[in-house]
Amino acid sequence: MRVLIASSNKGKLRDFSAAANVHGVEVELLPDFSSIATVIEDGATFEVNARKKSEHYSRFAAGELVVADDSGLEVDAIGGAPGVRSARYAAEGDNGHENSADRANNEKLLRELSEVPDDKRTGRFVCVISVARDGREVASFRGSAEGVILRETRGSGGFGYDPLFYFPALDKTFAELTPEEKSKVSHRGAAFRKFLNWCDMRER
Ligand code: IMP
Repeated sequence: MRVLIASSNKGKLRDFSAAANVHGVEVELLPDFSSIATVIEDGATFEVNARKKSEHYSRFAAGELVVADDSGLEVDAIGGAPGVRSARYAAEGDNGHENSADRANNEKLLRELSEVPDDKRTGRFVCVISVARDGREVASFRGSAEGVILRETRGSGGFGYDPLFYFPALDKTFAELTPEEKSKVSHRGAAFRKFLNWCDMRER
């Protein structure tokens, strides 16, 4: 089985490939993805933004199922921020829609949480996968992963907030996991497995 993914984020693509490999599924970047105009992700929820992306990009692959995700980190002590604005967290205030570098985002998060005690630094990664065909969403799936935000980065794998996201069950941050290990416990892996189950049901 082949799945077309619409994303320019290399970290996400690596995660999707790892989650798919475990199930013998191949993921491919949507053909000509880089030449397609991007979507403004101004929705208030992960669901709305994921849908905007899948519906938009599926118009460029007639008849195919196209998968897009919207994801982010929700930290309880700061009201669920950065949430849907995770990619552009550090750039907020200057340019609302430009993404900021992972390092700047992590530094901002650490600043915002500097006064928050260890037992209140809980949060979760959320991923919503939307599947669309010919400009219409046909299904969506949500996955999440609960963790704790550290006071300094640990590990060099992954992307985004992974080096600050400590996953207690494995006693490691997501940046200390291989892509395959991460896919088994991550929000993106969980949402992707729901998507694969849905594909299985359709084929029966
Ligand atoms: P978007 O879904 O393209 O709007 O961006 C999601 C943003 O959330 C990324 O740029 C990261 O900052 C963050 N994020 C989402 N998933 C992960 C993950 O698996 N690890 C680390 N950061 C993530």
